[in-house]
Amino acid sequence: MIVAGKILVIGSLNMDMVVAVDEIPRRGETVPGGNPAYIPGGKGANQACAAAKLGGKTAMLGMVGDDTAGRTLMDSLRLAGVDVSAVAATDQAPTGTAIIQVDRSGGNCIVVIPGANAFCGKSHIEARRDLIKSHDIVLLQMEIPPDATFAAAELAAGYGKTVILNPAPAPGAIPDAVFAYLDYLIPNETELEKLSGLPVADAGSARAAARRLFGRGVKNLLVTLGSQGALLIGGGGAGPILSSPAPKVAAIDSTAAGDTFVGAFAVALSEAMPLDAALSFANRAAAISVTRPGAQPSMPGRGEM
Ligand code: RIB
Repeated sequence: MIVAGKILVIGSLNMDMVVAVDEIPRRGETVPGGNPAYIPGGKGANQACAAAKLGGKTAMLGMVGDDTAGRTLMDSLRLAGVDVSAVAATDQAPTGTAIIQVDRSGGNCIVVIPGANAFCGKSHIEARRDLIKSHDIVLLQMEIPPDATFAAAELAAGYGKTVILNPAPAPGAIPDAVFAYLDYLIPNETELEKLSGLPVADAGSARAAARRLFGRGVKNLLVTLGSQGALLIGGGGAGPILSSPAPKVAAIDSTAAGDTFVGAFAVALSEAMPLDAALSFANRAAAISVTRPGAQPSMPGRGEM
């Protein structure tokens, strides 16, 4: 029997307003779109949903508005098996919203309106330090205030937890002190480019960019490269390099593929899977998610894996 560790996701919850377009409009252009669909999303909630659907013991710490969208998001997570008792509702702002255009090749373009996520601040996180203490893996992104995310990383590292940061959306900067709190930094190509200041297009350029971050204290860097799969460079740059190809699928919507990957990787760590198996597990989960529309409804259950 697998004795799985407990996963805590600290981050955002958004209601996604999704519109299908032929092509993402250029600046100044007006294009027709399909009927809008309202689908549970938010990078934090998506990662929690992915982890729980794959069998991870998962809890979420975050903030919604005291409104219908907030209640719908909580229901979606509950249905997936996430413990939402630490998701608070504020009357100071509406639930976060994301406006997403999905083009006919499955690519997207997202605008996030933080709403209640902006009220999930540092003091809110620090007041819930016991929750961090009672979990094994802490999963973070960048859709709540950065100082709240960084404080969570510091607390979790102080308690000896496995700390994972998915730096999405790409922050302006991450203080070097924060890198030292992380066990895994999981950027995509764009996020790695922003953090390193170097262009990233493939595994070769990702390695060069990674070297810059290892110089700043990153321990293990896991780069997601979309259809090219993922690359894990461990041991502060001195460890083994593992790469895992992405399964070939007919993609219709890439929304939350990265979130599915990160949530699945956390589940694999929680089950102490070997790292090469963990990468393959995460790649397969993400590949399934892009074959279906939307964020949370697109994520696979364990049986499908
Ligand atoms: O990563 C996809 C997510 O980004 C969407 O669900 C949207 O809410 C934004 O946070």
